[in-house]
Amino acid sequence: MRKPIIAGNWKMYKTFSEAKEFVEEVKGLAPDASKVDSVICAPALFLQQLQASVEGSTLQIGAQTMHEEKEGAFTGEISPAQLADLGIPYVIIGHSERRQYFNETDASVNKKVHAAFEFGLTPIMCVGETLEQRESGSTGSIVENQVAEGLKGLTEEQASKTVIAYEPIWAIGTGKTATAEDANEVCGIIRKKVAALYNDETAQQIRIQYGGSVKPANIEELLGMEHIDGALVGGASLETESFVKLLEAGL
Ligand code: G3H
Repeated sequence: MRKPIIAGNWKMYKTFSEAKEFVEEVKGLAPDASKVDSVICAPALFLQQLQASVEGSTLQIGAQTMHEEKEGAFTGEISPAQLADLGIPYVIIGHSERRQYFNETDASVNKKVHAAFEFGLTPIMCVGETLEQRESGSTGSIVENQVAEGLKGLTEEQASKTVIAYEPIWAIGTGKTATAEDANEVCGIIRKKVAALYNDETAQQIRIQYGGSVKPANIEELLGMEHIDGALVGGASLETESFVKLLEAGL
């Protein structure tokens, strides 16, 4: 039985005061950590203080991206060592916005996933097709390739601990959600690919989230699907009430 993981991705929203107020309110409402993993991936600038404020609660803090090197002359970047030193448990890697606007590729995603494990962080590795790719019928092969390239070189244990977020790009921030059946079908393709790359046990352990216009009104149906183990949520993670409902749906 895979434990659901519900993660909010705040992207470049919220000021620090808003973030702090949100976390103070939600941290006492997040479900039992043995039942659901509840995560907020906040802007890098806030990580240290938010991490300190969730201490002792079941709410966890994640980063939205990081560099693959431990340290170096990379102005403006944050390193895996810096995240690990703050005790940050999760990091989103290869979100489609990073791929689209910041030139991230399957190769850089793979380096970052390795770096995450090297520093004890759990990567939430994003994959997903564009509308054009979906319409041309290549969703399966695109996503399989992203999974194979992203996981390349990981041990079985590391692969089983990776969280994969399937986010069809056309469903992000558009209000268009993939149907639960379509989302499940692609998450099933991902699981099958993991089985082919590793083995059935690894495929059964790996957690696969769906992301793309997830909200309280559709999360239960999505989580009810065989291959969907959680959600990566943008817009609906910005309000405390809807985020708490999303977390509760994981129970
Ligand atoms: O990381 C989250 C996704 O990009 C989904 O965003 O829930 O606003 O569609 P959204």
